[in-house]
Amino acid sequence: MDEQLTAFFTQGQDRINSALAEALPKTDPIGGEDLIDAMRYSLLNGGKRVRPILAYASAAAISPSAEPKNIDAVACAVESIHAYSLIHDDLPAMDDDDLRRGQPTCHKAFSEATAILAGDALQTLAFDCITEASTLSANTRLALLKRLGQASGHRGMVMGQAIDLASIDKQVDLNHLQTMHNYKTGALIEAAVLMGAEATETACEEQFTSLTQYAKAIGLAFQVQDDILDVIADTETLGKTQGADQERNKPTYVSLLGLEGAKTKANDLHQQALKALGSFDEKADTLRQLSAYIINRGY
Ligand code: IPE
Ligand code: IPE
Ligand code: MG
Ligand code: MG
Ligand code: MG
Repeated sequence: MDEQLTAFFTQGQDRINSALAEALPKTDPIGGEDLIDAMRYSLLNGGKRVRPILAYASAAAISPSAEPKNIDAVACAVESIHAYSLIHDDLPAMDDDDLRRGQPTCHKAFSEATAILAGDALQTLAFDCITEASTLSANTRLALLKRLGQASGHRGMVMGQAIDLASIDKQVDLNHLQTMHNYKTGALIEAAVLMGAEATETACEEQFTSLTQYAKAIGLAFQVQDDILDVIADTETLGKTQGADQERNKPTYVSLLGLEGAKTKANDLHQQALKALGSFDEKADTLRQLSAYIINRGY
C-alpha cells in the first residue's frame, strides 16, 4: 500500500473505531449484558474497516469540508450492518465458521442465541446511527435510511446470502455468480460509497451516477478477491479459515474461472472503476487507490 493510502487507512480506522465505541450501548437495563458484550466483541474486534474508509474517501471526493460527524454516522451505520452480516454468516446454519478476524466467531465466544441477537441488535443500531445524526437534515436522513435499507435486506445483502446458501453443491453460471456477489457484498459496498457522498449534502446527480458505476465495479471486485484469498492465502493471514468455500462446495470466481481467470476479472473491474471516476479531479485519488487496494490486498 502506498504511504498516502496507508495514512488514510490508519486515520480512518482510528476515527471509525472511536465512533463505533461511542455508538455502542453503555449499560444494560437488567442482566442482558451478554448481548452488549457480544455486540462490542464483534464490532470492535478489528476488521479492515474498508466500508467506512470508502465512505470517508467518497465524501472527500465530493467535499473535503463536509461535517465530519455526518460522515461518521454513515460509516458507523454501514460497518454495523457489516458486523451483523458477519456474525450471522458464521453461524452453524450458514457458513459454520469458528474463526473470524483471528478470534473465535461470536457464537463460539458467546452462545448461538446471543450471536443471533447481537446480529439483530447491530442491524437496528445501524439505523439508529442515521436517525440520530441530528446535524443532517431530515431529508438527507430519509435518503440515507432508504439506501441502507435497500442495500441490507431482500434487495441487497440478505438476498445475496440466501442465493449463496441456495447455490451450495450447484453448478451455476457466471451470470448467477455475478448476481449473487453483487447482492451479498456489492450492495453494501455501493451503499458505503453513495452514503458517504450523500452525507456531504452537496453531491449532484452526475456525481451519484459516476460513483454508482465505480462502486458496482469495486463491490464485485471485493468479493472476487475474497474468493481468490480463500484459495491462495493462509488461515493466519486471513484471520478466517482458509479453504472454507471449497470445503462447503460453494461456487466462486475461482471455481468457475480458475485462479488466473478470477485475477483477470478483478483487474478488469479495477479498470472499470477508474474509468467511472473519469470526470472527478484529484480529490477522488483516494477512491482510485482504494480500487487498486481492493484487488491487491492480501487479507
Ligand atoms: C468479509 O468482509 C466478508 C465479505 C463481504 C467478503 P471484509 O473482508 O471486509 O472483512 P473484515 O471486516 O475486514 O473482517
Ligand atoms: C460473506 O461472504 C458475505 C456477507 C454478506 C457476510 P463470505 O461467506 O465469503 O465471507 P467470509 O469469507 O466468510 O468473510
Ligand atoms: Mg458466506
Ligand atoms: Mg463466510
Ligand atoms: Mg469468503
